[in-house]
Amino acid sequence: MVRPHAAAAVRNAAPILGVLRHELRNCSTLFEIGSGTGQHAVAFAAELRHVLWQTSDLEQSHPGIRAWIAEAGLDNVLPPMGFDVLTSGKTGHKYDAVFSANTAHIMSYAAVCRMFERVGDMLSEPGLFCLYGPFSRGGAFSTPSNEAFDASLRARNAAMGIRDLDDLQVLGSENGLQLARVYAMPANNLLAVWTIIAARCRR
Ligand SMILES: C[S@@+](CC[C@H](N)C(=O)[O-])C[C@H]1O[C@@H](n2cnc3c(N)ncnc32)[C@H](O)[C@@H]1O
Repeated sequence: MVRPHAAAAVRNAAPILGVLRHELRNCSTLFEIGSGTGQHAVAFAAELRHVLWQTSDLEQSHPGIRAWIAEAGLDNVLPPMGFDVLTSGKTGHKYDAVFSANTAHIMSYAAVCRMFERVGDMLSEPGLFCLYGPFSRGGAFSTPSNEAFDASLRARNAAMGIRDLDDLQVLGSENGLQLARVYAMPANNLLAVWTIIAARCRR
């Protein structure tokens, strides 16, 4: 199979890796939601050899992800798990970290809510959830280009749209997660990091 290529995944890989290198320094296992082409998984797993990287996505993306994994020949990337945040059952495993890129604005808001529930279930303490993408904050877009992107998404599919970090912060706290750090990334994107709320750690 010809490996699928997403130009954006090539452009944003280095800046995302810069953050993940630091955030995942104490993590051994990671679950990726919405691996897409699989480019991120192999690019990051190649540089973070201490992390066992579990790819996942809807079944239609699996051939491409498998092709990237086969070509990379890494022993720390696992074949894609069929995982739809809305319909899949529990993964049955706990992970040190969950990573997801460019998914929250593609999923419906109901699916985003469900993603936070699933992340809350699958993280082991202290837990890290790293979510990359475009977000608004306090109901305001950071740039006209993000506002235009949001309008184009909603025109394409009314269920899509850029999510507000304040809303995601609430979703996190409803699921035992606190927004710990927000990194400004190139092209007006953010990488937000949640950890398990300390009170839950002490239980
Ligand atoms: C824009 S792509 C991002 C792919 C990749 N993470 C990247 O940054 O290049 C959005 C991904 O979210 C996945 N996705 C959409 N709805 C989903 C759902 N309900 N559950 C799990 N993944 C979903 C899509 O299949 C797709 O791979």
